[in-house]
Amino acid sequence: MARPRVLSGIQPTADSFHLGNYLGAVRQWVTLQETHDAFYCVVDLHAITVPTEPAALRRRSRVAAAQLFAAGLDPERSTVFVQSHVREHTELAWVLICLTGMGEAGRMTQFKDKSAKFGESAASVGLFTYPILQAADILLYQANRVPVGADQKQHLELTRDLGQRFNHRFGDTFTLPEPYILKEVEKITDLQDPTAKMSKSSSSPAGILDVLEQPGPLRKKIMRAVTDTGSEVLFDEENKPGISNLLRIQSALTATPIPDLVARYAGQGYGTFKKDVAEAVVDAFAPIRERTEKLLSDEKELDRLLAIGAERASAVAKQTMAEVRDRIGFLPKH
Ligand code: TYM
Repeated sequence: MARPRVLSGIQPTADSFHLGNYLGAVRQWVTLQETHDAFYCVVDLHAITVPTEPAALRRRSRVAAAQLFAAGLDPERSTVFVQSHVREHTELAWVLICLTGMGEAGRMTQFKDKSAKFGESAASVGLFTYPILQAADILLYQANRVPVGADQKQHLELTRDLGQRFNHRFGDTFTLPEPYILKEVEKITDLQDPTAKMSKSSSSPAGILDVLEQPGPLRKKIMRAVTDTGSEVLFDEENKPGISNLLRIQSALTATPIPDLVARYAGQGYGTFKKDVAEAVVDAFAPIRERTEKLLSDEKELDRLLAIGAERASAVAKQTMAEVRDRIGFLPKH
């Protein structure tokens, strides 16, 4: 039997992934390539929904791809590609845009958050249609599962709604995808504001742990992470969001259940615990940073791997799009 298919994407909007991207998504991508037919894309079309410098976009797209390989995606087993290399993403997005209600698109909370930053009238129409392009990414590959963090739940619901609507109106065409979200790491929070998600667009760099950051600054940020009143290392998201976030991080990185960690640090105070968290983060990131640097030193090879990915992705995308065109009623080109 064919393996189930998995698809996910990540934006090239920063010079490094952060710990939230890594624990919430990329680590699962690596695991899932063992059991799934895996498609992962660097979503540069999504990146331009906010103003973007061409040189920065080029650099960040390569840095993103290099980090994916460095984190453990195997170009033999996973199809890793750049979204803009496969033209069908924009073509299917247009079809789905025409099936989406204005009100439905307007309810997307990420659009509301992001556009609030620019002022709603300054936000691009592209930002408004962003989740529909994401739906196209997923439906195009007939994905069964989509590994993401909790912030993507609403976009996945929209994806299912649009897939279902298309199937209902034009005949069964799309697989309806399930989100694949690991509860323990679905929302890694900001070290300085432990109730907010760790995010590239966060106002304070002190709250974000970048995968490509050097050990020194990583350790410093963790030692300075906002902790809570009291001195006991306890998991209590309500009253101790800072320590609970660090416990979640330590648990995920060392494969140790949270209750075991709580028992280990009983009576030891925050200092020892934070030092160990810092070492776990440094140990996880250092090899990824080193491999990323190596991959980036040979752009030709990196571009070659991405071209192979684009070719494999295109083969699937073309097939889906041919069916969509026919079902919609577009004339065949003879
Ligand atoms: P992006 O680039 O913002 O984030 C990439 C992935 O990282 C997850 N993530 C987190 N997980 C846990 N805690 C956090 N603090 C945290 N911050 C980010 C995100 O949930 C995401 O899985 N819209 C998507 C990109 C996209 C996509 C797709 C995803 C485009 N097309 C198709 C899946 C399928 C996004 O903005 O990801």
